[in-house]
Amino acid sequence: MSEISSSMPLTERVYNHLCLSDVSLALLGLFVFCCVREKVTKKLGPTIWPVFGITPEFFFHRNDVYGWATRCLKKCRGTFLYNGIWLGGSYGAVTCVPANVEYMLKTNFKNFPKGAFFKERFNDLLEDGIFNADAESWKEQRRIIITEMHSTRFVEHSFQTTQDLVRKKLLKVMESFARSQEAFDLQDVLLRLTFDNICIAGLGDDPGTLDSDLPLVPFAQAFEEATESTMFRFMIPPFIWKPLKFFDIGYEKEGTLGNRSDVLSRIIEIESHKTTDEKDPSTIKFFRQFCTSFILAGRDTSSVALTWFFWVIQKHPEVENKIIREISEILRQRGDSPTSKNESLFTVKELNDMVYLQAALSETMRLYPPIPMEMKQAIEDDVFPDGTFIRKGSRVYFATYAMGRMESIWGKDCESFKPERWIQSGNFVNDDQFKYVVFNAGPRLCLGKTFAYLQMKTIAASVLSRYSIKVAKDHVVVPRVTTTLYMRHGLKVTISSKSLEEKIHVQD
Ligand code: HEM
Repeated sequence: MSEISSSMPLTERVYNHLCLSDVSLALLGLFVFCCVREKVTKKLGPTIWPVFGITPEFFFHRNDVYGWATRCLKKCRGTFLYNGIWLGGSYGAVTCVPANVEYMLKTNFKNFPKGAFFKERFNDLLEDGIFNADAESWKEQRRIIITEMHSTRFVEHSFQTTQDLVRKKLLKVMESFARSQEAFDLQDVLLRLTFDNICIAGLGDDPGTLDSDLPLVPFAQAFEEATESTMFRFMIPPFIWKPLKFFDIGYEKEGTLGNRSDVLSRIIEIESHKTTDEKDPSTIKFFRQFCTSFILAGRDTSSVALTWFFWVIQKHPEVENKIIREISEILRQRGDSPTSKNESLFTVKELNDMVYLQAALSETMRLYPPIPMEMKQAIEDDVFPDGTFIRKGSRVYFATYAMGRMESIWGKDCESFKPERWIQSGNFVNDDQFKYVVFNAGPRLCLGKTFAYLQMKTIAASVLSRYSIKVAKDHVVVPRVTTTLYMRHGLKVTISSKSLEEKIHVQD
């Protein structure tokens, strides 16, 4: 017997002794070795695990993804490369270097479109709407939207809409909570307000989510669920969501996304028949694409910014005091006493004069940007200004949240909430748009920026001049990990009626 085995070739003898457990053990050993090597040799950026890529790190930090990304970017001076699970085809870079961001958003704009990855996931919801479009289609839609949004009719109508909603609905809801002294979710109320606002401005239809009983509105709910389902596609690999879609099961079930856009189609169909002035490209499809993108762009961003604003000024009463004094001064110039129960709201000129309020809102969004991370996809190989090589097909993320917290961009006090950094000689100063990419920058700069500031200032000034807000004790404030920086548990507050004079008196 021993004679036979000794005459066997070595490979055959090894093969005869091998069993599955040996192979598994060897692979495990190799995996552990690669992990240890990665930990020991890697000096910059997050750990990239063998086989699983960056996925485990992302999973370990799933409750603090933005904070973790910020720490990684600080350690590696602004840019790191990553790859996802083997064979998943996911690789790219994350950056917070303004020169790289400028390169993507302006200098070599053509090489960094939204790309196939983004488009594929958003296709069912947005089709080819501006938010999901590139190249000629995007250019044409942007041209049409700019013409419409810059028209005096739109500017006046949208501002009037905000004022009406604040006066007729928001203040009534607030008054009711002030009387009952019941704690409520301020984020929810603000989300309802801006949803109704964008629907009236864009569709001419009031979904009524801010009616006094704060109802559940099927259209709003459908839109919410459609965006949530789309977000899932960014978090799980295509080999999971694509079969779910194909077999029409789980959250990809046709009844979800399909019916949801039908709701919008029907509203749009009704509305488009109502309009008398026919617009050239407004086929139902074009109109639907435009409306979905418009609602998605303008629905939650300003309410999320306002939620963080009301929270952050609670923590910085000196800032709230300065805002209150600024509003009082404007009312004094108008001839109104700060105690008067004036029902009127602020004019555009008065809102434009609220420099400190604008600075406080900008500072809030620097630290808590409503869209904390954005993504582009490289068409061709490229090299960033900081020397990072970007492989063709890379998904490149620019981390707006991290950019607001970089000492190299904002100085030593980058973590402090300081509205004063936005004011010079009494005027508001816009910072370099590639340092402050909260509204994007370059050719794809947000089209609703001016409207959003007017809207946020109207709401903030109207609320602060009438009510005192208190965040509920022990309420935990943390961001939710999705494309918009919602507060995960909302913002639970109680409010009480307080005139400006009473507020100033308390300060003195
Ligand atoms: C605080 C409020 C807002 C913030 C922070 C904000 C931010 C942004 C950002 C970061 C983008 C780029 C998104 C991307 O390319 O993936 C964007 C695009 C856009 N925003 Fe806003 N936005 C705000 C409010 C609004 C409002 C109220 C409207 C509409 C009335 C609006 C309309 C748009 C449109 C149409 C685009 C697409 C521009 C393009 O792709 O050419 N935004 N916004």
